[in-house]
Amino acid sequence: MFKKLDILDDTHKVLRQISKEVKLPLSNDDKEIIEQIIKHLTYSQIDKYADKYDLRPGMGLAFPQLGLLKRIIVIVDEYEEGKFKNYVVVNPKITSNSTEIIAAEVGEGCLSVNREIEGHVPRFARVTIEGFDPEGKKIKIRAREELSIAFQHEIDHLNGILFYDKIDKKKPFFNEYDNVRLI
Ligand code: NI
Repeated sequence: MFKKLDILDDTHKVLRQISKEVKLPLSNDDKEIIEQIIKHLTYSQIDKYADKYDLRPGMGLAFPQLGLLKRIIVIVDEYEEGKFKNYVVVNPKITSNSTEIIAAEVGEGCLSVNREIEGHVPRFARVTIEGFDPEGKKIKIRAREELSIAFQHEIDHLNGILFYDKIDKKKPFFNEYDNVRLI
């Protein structure tokens, strides 16, 4: 049975706290939560289920968004129409990044931010993420473009950072002189 997640919005101070490293392997409770997150994110990206369960589309979630200050992130990437790849990273770290900067042209959204916030969020075009899977096996992921943005967005959550913190209030949109590629 599908259970919609209770996602905290950004009025909760917990979203501004630093999450703690997690001991591995994960507990069965945490693994169960991960399965719920994967299902929620997947359904949210399939119109039929998004309508049925009233889900706002999202491709990523971090544990602090559920009020749990643990360094665990989940991303469900629709890499091809109707095909999804799941990424679960425990204690993730960005171990290298491109010098090239990109930004999502339409801006970013967040399941904890229930309003439109306009502006470009500068992100590395490519990142390498290292961390662990739920069993404690070391993993390394190379991400680019939209997936790279998603990883940076979710890892920011573990450090109490929200995407709009990174929008320049005085000049929220990049232009062709800014050396930022819009995707
Ligand atoms: Ni978010």
